[in-house]
Amino acid sequence: MPMIAALQRAMNDQIQKEFSANYLYLAMSAWFEERNFEGFAKWMRLQADEERTHAMRIYDFVLDRGGKVILEGIPEPAAKWKTALEVFDAARKHEQMVSASINGLYSRALSEKDYATQVMLQWFITEQVEEEKTSTALAERLRLVGDSATGLIILDRQFGERTRAT
Ligand SMILES: [Fe+2]
Ligand SMILES: [Fe+2]
Repeated sequence: MPMIAALQRAMNDQIQKEFSANYLYLAMSAWFEERNFEGFAKWMRLQADEERTHAMRIYDFVLDRGGKVILEGIPEPAAKWKTALEVFDAARKHEQMVSASINGLYSRALSEKDYATQVMLQWFITEQVEEEKTSTALAERLRLVGDSATGLIILDRQFGERTRAT
């Protein structure tokens, strides 16, 4: 059973949002790299990779359902952060926005009685709990260290221990 047109359009919008997140985290990674925070930069680059896998998950689903993938333009990410904390606060805000968007998709799939899309989106709903939890924890850790150079160096090393894009 194909997806109805409005849902397919919303799924394509979500693909665009995941690629926008990929772009945003890449901009954040570059921001840290420029300031010699290699650990934060690595963390953000892995997060960018993860966002691409999110986009591709929906991309594959749309095609599996016999739908049409339409790739929309990706806006230039606003990269005007002043501190590491501002970057992670922006990441947290972004994840909250993504959660709202996934929830909106789910309620649409519910009202259309599109069960396959509901099941697919359940993975994303669980994932967003993780994303919000992680981005909040990291932002709060940065808030704690404040302007302490030592604190930032320790956190940079700690964040750099991330090895997987999941
Ligand atoms: Fe995502
Ligand atoms: Fe994740």
